[in-house]
Parts: sequence; C-alpha cells; structure tokens
Amino acid sequence: MERFETHTHDVIVIGAGGAGLRAAIEASAQGASVGLVCKSLLGKAHTVMAEGGVAASLGNVDSKDNWKTHFHDTMHGGKMLNNWRMAQLHAQEAPERVRELEHWGALFDRTKEGDINQRAFGGHTWKRLAHVGDRTGLEMIRTLQDRGIHTGVDVYMECTITHILKDGDRISGAFGYWRESGRFVLFNAKSIILATGGIGKSYKVTSNSWEYTGDGHALAYEAGADLIDMEFVQFHPTGMVWPPSVKGILVTEAVRGEGGILTNRNGERFMEKYDPERMELSTRDVVARSIYTEVQEGRGSPHGGAFLDISHRGAEYVKKKLPSMYHQFMEFAEIDITKEPMEVYPTTHYIMGGVRVDAETAQTTVRGLFACGEVAGGMHGANRLGGNSLSDLLVFGKRSGTGAADYASKIKDNELKINDIDIEGAVKEMLTPYENAEGENPYTIHQALQEAMGDFVGVFRTKDKLHEGIEEINILKERASQLKIEGSRMFNPGWHLCKDLKSMLIVSEAIARCAHQREESRGAHSRVDFPQYNDEKWGTVNSVISKDNGDMKLSTSPLHQMPEELKRIVEGGYE
Ligand code: FUM
Repeated sequence: MERFETHTHDVIVIGAGGAGLRAAIEASAQGASVGLVCKSLLGKAHTVMAEGGVAASLGNVDSKDNWKTHFHDTMHGGKMLNNWRMAQLHAQEAPERVRELEHWGALFDRTKEGDINQRAFGGHTWKRLAHVGDRTGLEMIRTLQDRGIHTGVDVYMECTITHILKDGDRISGAFGYWRESGRFVLFNAKSIILATGGIGKSYKVTSNSWEYTGDGHALAYEAGADLIDMEFVQFHPTGMVWPPSVKGILVTEAVRGEGGILTNRNGERFMEKYDPERMELSTRDVVARSIYTEVQEGRGSPHGGAFLDISHRGAEYVKKKLPSMYHQFMEFAEIDITKEPMEVYPTTHYIMGGVRVDAETAQTTVRGLFACGEVAGGMHGANRLGGNSLSDLLVFGKRSGTGAADYASKIKDNELKINDIDIEGAVKEMLTPYENAEGENPYTIHQALQEAMGDFVGVFRTKDKLHEGIEEINILKERASQLKIEGSRMFNPGWHLCKDLKSMLIVSEAIARCAHQREESRGAHSRVDFPQYNDEKWGTVNSVISKDNGDMKLSTSPLHQMPEELKRIVEGGYE
C-alpha cells in the first residue's frame, strides 16, 4: 500500500464554515490541539448564504424581545418537532454569542442610538436579526476566520475526509485525501466534530455550492450514528430564476424583511390568500408553497416564478440595505432592483434533519463523534426560521468545541488504535473507480439523482411519487457501485464526484424514505395525499435513520417530554 502522511490532534473538526470555525476556536480555547479540515478553501462556506442576519433577542429595536419569545417562535416555526432543549439553549445563548462576535471585530449595522441594528424576518415576532446589510454570513465568517487563525488552530484546506475511523465503539481518527495531489492522509484524533453543512447538491436547483454533498451526514451514518428528521428539507422561497445559469442563487429574505412585496403575473399580492396576517413575512415553508402553487396554477412570471418588488423603498435605501442583491441582479440579470421587480422561485437551501446530538455537548450517538451547525438535526424541527442558522452555528459550534475538547481530555495519548484493515478498506474503496475496466460516468448518475430528487422528493410530495423516487435512487445506487474514472489522481473532479456521490445517495435515500414514512404534512414536508397535521401519530416522534447490518434502517423515536414552564412559553406565556 502507498505511504501517506499522518497528523495527530486531540480534536479534528471537519468543515470550516461558521460552525466548524466556532467549534475549532472553542476546542482550542479549552486547551485541545485542534486540526480544522475542509474540502474547500477556508471561509468558502454556505454560512455566507445566510445573508439577511443572525437571530438573537438583543431587544435593541423591539425592547419587548427576550429569549422566551425567540424560543416560542422557533418551536412554532419548527411545528413542535424541535429538540426543545436545543431550542431553549439556542434562544438563551444567542445574544451573548452575537455580542462576543462583535468583541472579536464583527461590524454590525447600527441603530441611531449606536446599538446593533435588527430587522424583521419571517416567523419572528420582533425585529430580531442583527445584520450587516445583506452580507451578514460573510462578515461572521471573516470574523471567525480571523479569530481562528490567531488561536493556534491548524488548518488543512482542500482535503476531503472519506472515512471516520473507530477503535471499538470510540472515534480514533479520520482518513481522506488531498484534492490537489490525490494523495491519502490520515488524522489521528481523540474526538471529531462534524461541521460539514448541508445536502443541497442532491437537488438541481439549490443555493448551495459544489461542496454541499451531505458528507457529514453520510460519514456519521457510516460510523453508526443516528440521523433524524431527514424528510425536512427547506426550500427557500426566493432563489433567482433567470438567466438559467444563475437559477437557484439566493435572494435574501432580507428583501421581504425590508418590505419587499410578492405578486403574480396578474399583479395580485397573492400572500393575502395564503397567510393574510403575516403576508410576505410568513414562514419559509408557507411562502415557498405559495409561490410554487401560483406558478403551477398558471399565474407565474415570464420565467416561471413570482415577482418580488422592493423598488418602492427608493434607490438610496435599497442600495444601503441590500447592496449585494442590487449588484447580484445588475450583474447576473441586468435588472435594476431599485426600479424593477425581481423574479424568484423556491430553491433548495437547508436541511433541518441531521445527525442526532445531545443538546448540552453536541455529542452524537457515537462516542467521541460530535456534530454542529446544519449537519446536526433537532434544533429546527420541521422548518427553520431565517436567521436561526447563524445563531445555531454560534451556540452549538461553541458547545461542540467544549464537548469534544472535554471528551478528548479524558483520553491518554496513544490510547486509541487505528485499525490497518479499516485503512486498507478505505484505500480500496477510493481506488475502485480507477480499476473498473467498464462502468458508469459519475456525472451521469449525479444528474439523474438531481432530477429524481426534484421530480419525486420536491416541495409537494405524494406516496406514489416518493415510491418512484426511492426506486430510482435504488437503481442509481446499483449503477453507482460500478463507477469508472480515468486520468490521474491529481486534481481529478470526476474522481472527487465518485466519493461525493456515495454521500449524496445516502442522504437522498434517507430523505426520500423518511418523507415516504411520514404520512402527514408538517413544516417543510408537504404531502398532497396527507395535507393535515397528524399530531397523534406524527407530532410526537422523530424519524430515525440508522445503519443496521449494512442496510439503511428506518424507524421513529419519541420526542422528549417538554417541561411545564417551557410548555407555558410555547402556549404564549412569554411577556
Ligand atoms: O435569506 C437569507 O438571508 C437566508 C438566511 C438564512 O438562511 O438563515
């Protein structure tokens, strides 16, 4: 077998977006030696696509806001399927995490009084989103990156982790390869934090970039961890629709937060029909379904979307509050949004489901394996409120860093072993596509998978469609077991896709099977054949995916009982 380099750390963080960076900073602050591994460049993360703000009840604009209201809104947004303890910790700790970022140099927009400014977003009772124009995620990444590289974290960029390694039932390391050279690399670790983000690339129309292939979900699944609630995929209501080359790129919810109005081709403000009270600031699941329905029923815009207009706010205001949107539409679509409406349509943005974690420590069901940010499940239930992803990654990034460092501190150096057979298996699996004399092209399979997910596991679902989707995924799994790749291992994107496909097929199967199982509509999961909530049967359980004797097993597990004082808050007792 070829020789490969080895690195040793107490804690390895996989993924260097906001969650991974926050986790690495914390683990390092706790005294752990930390390696931060990312398949892309440091800071090139989907965190920047949370543009409109970070949700925290600072109460700077609406002084009545407090953690209880934020908790209440998050639980209602998630249709009560959230891990209530995560939602509670998140609401309680988000303000402190945002202030901490400010101390580390984040430059938030200010109120006239000089406080951090906050704006409205869908499903939030008060103006709650601390923001930097429409570049909030970018400013957060910049701040965390700056902090991270000054706290002694070792960064390994353009390195893809392909396998998590265990010694018995405990984590002992991770195996992967350098994307540039194709050479393998081994990381010895006492604990691992997954912070790999989402799964958007299983779908064709998505706000996610090439990195988001469900790696962490698949690594956790393969390592024996539970995945929960995978049916809940968030279709952000407003992605670009035209020109085709930019289809799916995010149009921030801040446009609606700043007063943007949605209309159909007849000029009707259609949200009056779907949510007359909250209108454009209804939750994302509702707005996405409304736009989808308008288009399906023949009232779409010329390129098959809805109109979103902010021009009534005036050019100066729009350019100040939404500078990225102004440039995005000018440069990509030659549309001046200070004068004309945008065309928008739902785009796959986020997955609420993910790796099951303990709320306090972010540890998964595997000893030594932790998860935070989008890859972790539970926090957002059936539907995430905009802005809660950024506060989630700060709160649980920090908690996972503490959890993983604390866990690692109890393990002696050299106590954990790496099993040679596991390494040989990983190398063999990775090299198989080069050895197949004949086989399938990974790009063909990826395209077919994206089409199947869009056609059968999209915004509106039915039993028959989901069944077809599962059948199609099974066929694609079979075909993907015979991939063939040519060329060298040096920066070979086709080879990279072979590995990414494995992850995408796992998460796609998990999504489709959970969606098939849940015979009700809740949050982002809309079953045309079961349009109502079924609280009795489905309101009290999470969907669970686990690996059992090599096969994907689907089950449910009961939600934990919520304490009475939190129940009172959820019922509206939060003044
Ligand atoms: O629309 C947005 O700015 C996205 C925010 C989020 O996903 O939290």
